[in-house]
Amino acid sequence: MLKEGLTKQEITEILEKKLKQDFSYDSGSILGSMCTYPNDFGKEIYMKYIAKNLGDPGLFLGTTKLEEELTKEIGSLFNGKNITGTFTTGGSEANVIAMRIAKKLHPEISEPEVVLPISSHISFDKAADLLGIKLRKAKLKENFELDLDHYASLINNNTCGVVGIAGTTALGLIDPIKEIGNLVQDKDIYFHVDAAFGGFILPFLKNLGYKVPSWDFSVKNVDSITADPHKMGLGIIPSGGFFLRDESILQKTGFEIPYLAGGNFKHFHFVGTRPGASVIAFWAIMKYLGIDGFTKMIQNCMQNTNYLAKKISEIQGIKLATKPVLNLVGITTEDNESICEIDNKLREKNWMLGKFIDFNLIRVVIMPHVKYEHLTRFVEDLEEILSVSK
Ligand SMILES: Cc1ncc(COP(=O)(O)O)c(C=O)c1O
Repeated sequence: MLKEGLTKQEITEILEKKLKQDFSYDSGSILGSMCTYPNDFGKEIYMKYIAKNLGDPGLFLGTTKLEEELTKEIGSLFNGKNITGTFTTGGSEANVIAMRIAKKLHPEISEPEVVLPISSHISFDKAADLLGIKLRKAKLKENFELDLDHYASLINNNTCGVVGIAGTTALGLIDPIKEIGNLVQDKDIYFHVDAAFGGFILPFLKNLGYKVPSWDFSVKNVDSITADPHKMGLGIIPSGGFFLRDESILQKTGFEIPYLAGGNFKHFHFVGTRPGASVIAFWAIMKYLGIDGFTKMIQNCMQNTNYLAKKISEIQGIKLATKPVLNLVGITTEDNESICEIDNKLREKNWMLGKFIDFNLIRVVIMPHVKYEHLTRFVEDLEEILSVSK
């Protein structure tokens, strides 16, 4: 550490240089991220309330009430009534919280298991590792949809929880949430839906005339939902969300911290100090954009998605892994050749996509920062790569 501090200008210049190697959303290179540039007004609000700490709710009563209000508002957007929950660092933390609850509610199961699709996000593997849960992963069918019969066959007396995904990481597909709900009907099994990506798309897609299967609290056995502001909510990075139907679960499973300056509260988190500013910012973003603002943003993303999907289906040597349901386009090879070479060549041209080796696909997430002109350039490069390798 320096003895004497540098000037602000010196520091700013050093930072500019050091961070130059980061990819930027504006360049269009970032085609494989589920995060994007936060909403500008949200950023202003975030800066204003940067020191709010939701880890001590008794000291920040106003922020705590705002979090409750926002949770309820999002809960109603997800067709629930009086939904409780909390904001997190992201979908991973929210999923770990859900898995902990599933286990905690079943102290009688000595070797707890959770049934989930093989397409589930890696955060469930992390949760299983941390919590000592065994994951039973259900296969997908040829078309990447969940094999529900296989899923059903994995449920047994050790099952403390089941998981469905509304917007898979690889392809944005929606699992049959209602049907999974039927499998746990009258069974004391916790049902969590991971809508980290889909949560802030699906309620608005309906307004655009898309057919959206039931995926939220309207399915009566769904106990909790993950949905992330920092993905399609345009929230501050990081901010995730965990939404829970039954408030009494907090009393049964929450952590009690006896020493806080603001008094004694129960909470779901394993973190202590946590940002209030990102929650306040998301409250402001929801108020600012409204249903119309979100719907318009998603309409743009879907238009670009449909454009790219059409182009991919016209290029020889590659094909769509599946017809896009959300703003994700999965690309695979026509002849079952490995997709890795194409991915490498795209990277050489600075296109950064997500790669899913198990499914032999690369995928583009058409976030709001991905513009039509980025996609036309991407398609040109892809055509060139494929015509050279022919
Ligand atoms: C479906 C799903 N769940 C959870 C996560 C984890 O979210 P985070 O990276 O915010 O922890 C992701 C991330 O891509 C995801 O796609």
